Amino acid sequence: MDPYSRHVLVCTGSYCSPEKKGRQIYAELARLLQREDLLFGPDRVKRGETPCLGVCAAGPIIAVYPDGIWYANVTSAQLERIVVEHLKHGRVVEELVFHRLGESS
Ligand code: FES
Repeated sequence: MDPYSRHVLVCTGSYCSPEKKGRQIYAELARLLQREDLLFGPDRVKRGETPCLGVCAAGPIIAVYPDGIWYANVTSAQLERIVVEHLKHGRVVEELVFHRLGESS
């Protein structure tokens, strides 16, 4: 198996987003990864969904590993920024970060 550069987990549960917007974000992530040519090659990104990331508020929540960067209240426009700036170019979208792995918040 070719390695992945990053793994993005999207919470599709209903506690952090009663409208289940995480499901929409998860679907949009697939389209954006394809558009940005992030499905194959050395920069490829694995997409995954989870029923809960333990936050259960301010969703949709997504977590990017191995960076350990978590984003909250992710809208479609913000997701596009995260994909292009963070996943494609490696620049964390600092103003959208609400948690970093290993730091309490
Ligand atoms: S339901 Fe999304 S973080 Fe718990």
